[in-house]
Order: sequence, then structure tokens, then C-alpha cells
Amino acid sequence: MDTILFPTAWMNFLPFLTAIEFHSAWAMGMRVNLLAANTHKVGQNMTGSGIYAPHSPKVYHYDMKTESGKILFSEVDTHPRMSPDYPAAVNWNAYAKTIKPFPVQKTTFGGFVSRDEFNFTELFKNSGNLTVCQKELCCHLSYRMVEKKENESYVLGAFTGLHSRRQREYWQVCTMLKCKTADLKTCGQAVETAATRFEMFSLSGTFGTEYVFPEVLLSEINLSPGKFEVLKDGRLINKNGPSEPILTVSLFGRWYTKDAVHNSCPTNNSAVNYLLISTLLMIYKIL
Ligand SMILES: *[C@@H]1O[C@H](CO)[C@@H](O)[C@H](O)[C@H]1NC(C)=O
Ligand SMILES: *[C@@H]1O[C@H](CO)[C@@H](O)[C@H](O)[C@H]1NC(C)=O
Ligand SMILES: *[C@@H]1O[C@H](CO)[C@@H](O)[C@H](O)[C@H]1NC(C)=O
Ligand SMILES: *[C@@H]1O[C@H](CO)[C@@H](O)[C@H](O)[C@H]1NC(C)=O
Ligand SMILES: *[C@@H]1O[C@H](CO)[C@@H](O)[C@H](O)[C@H]1NC(C)=O
Repeated sequence: MDTILFPTAWMNFLPFLTAIEFHSAWAMGMRVNLLAANTHKVGQNMTGSGIYAPHSPKVYHYDMKTESGKILFSEVDTHPRMSPDYPAAVNWNAYAKTIKPFPVQKTTFGGFVSRDEFNFTELFKNSGNLTVCQKELCCHLSYRMVEKKENESYVLGAFTGLHSRRQREYWQVCTMLKCKTADLKTCGQAVETAATRFEMFSLSGTFGTEYVFPEVLLSEINLSPGKFEVLKDGRLINKNGPSEPILTVSLFGRWYTKDAVHNSCPTNNSAVNYLLISTLLMIYKIL
């Protein structure tokens, strides 16, 4: 499969499921072109369309200020896997499983991202190497901020388990995110602006699933095309100089075979069918 067309009424949800953020990450994780056309209803938090190639977003639009729509144009490869910039397959836990974990912080604490209880540890210095674990998932982060801001807090977080009250979708998430305020009790709450730029970051995790979507979301809900990449060993790293101010850098994993509805999956004929159905199921279930 090369290209997926995805018309949607997608309600944005920070920190991981804002349309442009998740759709662009999905295209990278699945290594396909994704043309996502979202409805534009600002009052319902529905905005954000884009044309996303496997290696990078081509063009996107996010607008919470006006009610007017927009047509997006971009050229995409018909067969991206034949193009020289087609990304290599990623072994998502290769790096994380082979390194010696950084000393786990004594200051790990629990916190909620909507109803999911994450384990967090603070990025309390302007640079460092951190590990935080939850059950079998360990997330590693190396980072260096351009400048540590006194009024902003960031945490590294790990979550593995069935998501939300409905307990249907199995998530595995490693995330570096900005807390709503400098108060660590607000980590995981929605925040749309940031001032902290990163000179470098490298995020990885001991994922049990091969479906991992790399997300980088910047201040005021912007993507960061061309400024990060995923290495074959599963590290999500920045490139081409310091980042713009960051809201979140995440590896968002979906372990479809651990979903509570997996057994009711209607078709089982081939791997391709299975992939298609589970990803579509996932998209619909999230809504
Ligand atoms: C839209 O998002 C804001 C901020 O996250 C939230 O407070 C509000 O309830 C959302 N609106 C709807 C209709 O869900
Ligand atoms: C980490 O997460 C697990 C599972 O939710 C929880 O039992 C444990 O208490 C958490 N650790 C800390 C330090 O919050
Ligand atoms: C993080 O680890 C790397 C090697 O893995 C080391 O070069 C670097 O100095 C460490 N940074 C900090 C702030 O400890
Ligand atoms: C934090 O401080 C910076 C200046 O260092 C300022 O630009 C920014 O608005 C402040 N943010 C908050 C949330 O107060
Ligand atoms: C469906 O596919 C899975 C994974 O390929 C396999 O383990 C399972 O036995 C299949 N189920 C049926 C009913 O064919």
C-alpha cells in the first residue's frame, strides 16, 4: 500500500492526539503517504489537515482562529518505497534494549494524561540522561536544552496498558512533554505554548509492538518537518540545529494484538488486511 486517503472529523486532543501531530506520525510509522482531510469546526476543536509523506510532512494546515477552510496542494511520490528518501524499516526497541539504562530517578512520580496513569520523571537540569519505566516499558531520554526556563517544567513519561476508561486500546507511550505550568502536578494537562528550545534530544523505548508513531509537536501546535528523524535502531532524534520551542516529543505505540477488541476483528485473511483493519479500527476507536 502506498497512499491512504483519510477524510475525517477529528477532534484534537493534546498531548498526543491532535490531528496534524498524530496523522503525520502515523504516515511516518506506517511508511505510507497519508492525505488527511479534517473537517474544520473550531467550536468542536476540529481542525488540522495535511499531506504527509513517509519521511516528512509535505504540507499541513491548523487554524483555531478563523472558520474558513483551505485547500492543500503537494506533490507526493506515487510509489514512495521506490524513492531514494524512503525511510528504512525501524526496529523500535533495538537501541533501548541494548543500552545500559540510565540510573532510574528516585524522583519518579505518578501523573495522569487524561485517565491514563503515567510514570514521570522531571528534566530538572538543562541537560541529562534519564530513564523512566512502567512495567516492562522503559523510556530513555538524552537531552540538552538551549536554556532552562525557570517558569517551565518538562517530564519524561512512560505508559503501558489499556487506554482510558473504555480499556480497549493497548497503548505504549514514551514521551517528553511540557507540563501545563511549572508545577509538576500539572504534567499531562493540555498546554499549547512553550518557550524552551532543545539543542538535542534522543528518545527511545523498549517497545513490545512494531507499530510506533513518532511525534514532535511545537509551540502553538506546529509540526517540525525536516528537524527530526527516526534511526533504524528506534531512536527519535533532532537534527539540523536546535529545535523550536517544544510541547512534546513522543513515541506513541499501539499494540493492536493486546487490544480488548482484538478477538472480534472481522477479517483475518492476510497480514495486509489485518494491518489495514486494525489501523482503521484504531482511528475510529480513538474518536
Ligand atoms: C476544546 O479544547 C479545549 C482545550 O483543550 C477544551 O477546554 C474544550 O472543552 C474543548 N472543546 C470541546 C468541544 O471538546
Ligand atoms: C509506576 O507505574 C506503576 C504502574 O502504574 C505504579 O504501580 C508505580 O507506583 C509507578 N511508580 C511511581 C514511582 O509512581
Ligand atoms: C549522557 O550520556 C552520554 C553518553 O551516553 C554522555 O556523553 C553525556 O555526558 C551524558 N550527559 C549527562 C548530562 O550526563
Ligand atoms: C516564561 O518566561 C519567559 C521569559 O523567560 C516568557 O517569555 C514566558 O511568557 C513565560 N511563560 C509563562 C507561562 O509565564
Ligand atoms: C488470525 O491471525 C493471527 C495472527 O496472524 C493468528 O494467530 C490466528 O490464529 C488467526 N486466527 C484465525 C481464526 O485464523
